[in-house]
Amino acid sequence: MSEARGATEGSGSGRAPVGVAVVCGSVRPGAYTRMAVDLLLRSLAAAPGVEPTLVDPRELDLRSPGLEHDPDGPRRLTEALAAADGIVLATPEYHGGLSSVMKLVFENLGHPTPLRGKPVALLGVAAGVIGAIKSLEQVRSIASHMGALVLPGPVSVARCQEVFTPEGACLDDDVARRIEGLGEALVDYVRRHACPRASLEGMVRGNEELV
Ligand SMILES: Cc1cc2nc3c(=O)[nH]c(=O)nc-3n(C[C@H](O)[C@H](O)[C@H](O)COP(=O)(O)O)c2cc1C
Repeated sequence: MSEARGATEGSGSGRAPVGVAVVCGSVRPGAYTRMAVDLLLRSLAAAPGVEPTLVDPRELDLRSPGLEHDPDGPRRLTEALAAADGIVLATPEYHGGLSSVMKLVFENLGHPTPLRGKPVALLGVAAGVIGAIKSLEQVRSIASHMGALVLPGPVSVARCQEVFTPEGACLDDDVARRIEGLGEALVDYVRRHACPRASLEGMVRGNEELV
């Protein structure tokens, strides 16, 4: 899992940086979902006070429940999501649904799940004209079931081969804006509703500003 630090880290603002974990639900070489994820990660990394982290299932050796596995992958996955203030789940549309990789991510999260009470934004990528509507609904349903606060306004990228070049450049400004807006909305939500600006301990110790 790789990390990028926000441009100025909000220095001087007195705010703690917002950690955003972005889970990529495709492990295909040249995956379009990964291109959308990379665009999102770049825009998050450029935002002051935001620390994005890529969660790449290829690095985690996830297995179906019941199969013998090294617990290190699920542990790292769970820790990465637990440490994040907000999460983006990015899924491709496969056979009218979410990818098995994204389902495997859900099935490898420990108990209690790190999704509980966590703001989650959704990104879907599809080759077809109707976009990733079905997979996004499935991911929304599962994440909600697990207690996530799934934000409204998922972004669905349709006809992804026409939107991205094989090298990953986005040819559609509107899609790029929508993907960037997804990250902005998540960070905004975290700052407004999820991140306490002052902790009780900080107040008692007198080392935190009251706002
Ligand atoms: C197994 C499989 C099933 C797919 N089913 C659909 C589908 O039902 N609808 C659709 O629009 N695209 C479908 N696609 C195309 C993907 O949406 C396309 O590969 C897109 O680039 C997103 O996947 P990627 O991130 O792996 O590239 C399918 C692709 C695969 C590999």
